[in-house]
Amino acid sequence: MLRHMNSKKRILSGVQPTGKLHIGNYVGALSNWVKLQHQYDSFHCVVDWHSLTVTYDQTERIADDTLEVFIDLLAIGLDPSKATIFLQSMVPEHAELHLLLSMLINLGRLERNPTFKERVKDLDLRGEVSYGHLGYPVLQAADILVYRAHAVPVGEDQAPHLELTRELARKFNATYAEIFPEPDTLLTPFPRVPGPDGRKMSKSLGNHILMSDEPDVITKKVMSAITDPEKIRKDDPGNPEICNVYAWHIIFSPDQVETIAATCRSGERGCVMCKQEAAAVISNHFGEFREERKRLEADPDTVKDVIITGTRKASEVAKETMGLVRDSMGLLRPGA
Ligand code: TRP
Repeated sequence: MLRHMNSKKRILSGVQPTGKLHIGNYVGALSNWVKLQHQYDSFHCVVDWHSLTVTYDQTERIADDTLEVFIDLLAIGLDPSKATIFLQSMVPEHAELHLLLSMLINLGRLERNPTFKERVKDLDLRGEVSYGHLGYPVLQAADILVYRAHAVPVGEDQAPHLELTRELARKFNATYAEIFPEPDTLLTPFPRVPGPDGRKMSKSLGNHILMSDEPDVITKKVMSAITDPEKIRKDDPGNPEICNVYAWHIIFSPDQVETIAATCRSGERGCVMCKQEAAAVISNHFGEFREERKRLEADPDTVKDVIITGTRKASEVAKETMGLVRDSMGLLRPGA
């Protein structure tokens, strides 16, 4: 019905309210979202319910952390006139669809999900897995399907969750009616960003560089990075493939990478200078972002308006989907 007004395909993605976002989030997700908003009907939500799977008993910071993420999303260039930016917990239809989808999947399938197994290991949960936590990917499927999204732009670590989303869409469609597209995964070109220590950059490991870090902080973190351990002196030949600083150059110095790799290999390039250059390109890359972020920090009303408007738009679509869902299942509709 609305097809002629908006024939773009729809994407949806979610980010947890971890507070200020880091350059791993930027490279793995946000940079792609900013690009894709011109091509797709874009929906992006901050998934505060998902974060409760781990921090259900520490909710004092969740509201502030949520706002920080919204500020980051706007400052990096998501444009609310193009993308719908909203908060998961303000659209209760996510929970409603999550409940219905939870009937369509068995426990064994959820327990076998590799992303889930990894989380249990990383967080050292063992016997302490809650009912809600096991259902994490079912809630994620609901986030996506309630907007009947065609694709989901994420990093490769999310692939198993998306496989499960497609299974749930197929199962629903086969059981009731063809309502849900099976969403594609839109992988980002650089799925993994190392921290200075070489492990995947993440807030929980504490090896992150924030997008909003000031240049002196960026420099300090970059200077601490582990490079090729065999390259001890400045003129020792190095192996860029195993160097964390080179991994950042690939992303932030795309025009120089070949020269950087060649001069590292030949021993013409010392690590200290190479790190200084990396710190400078990273700082410059986020220069405009830092300015915009400060402007938004001083203007919380604008940020709140964006959330309210986005949530209203998201709710409209989610309500329409839930109407179709109820009808296809034969559930009574109020007033029907
Ligand atoms: N699981 C995702 C992550 O940890 C977050 C997420 C929740 C998500 N719902 C989503 C991502 C829907 C994409 C689509 O990053």
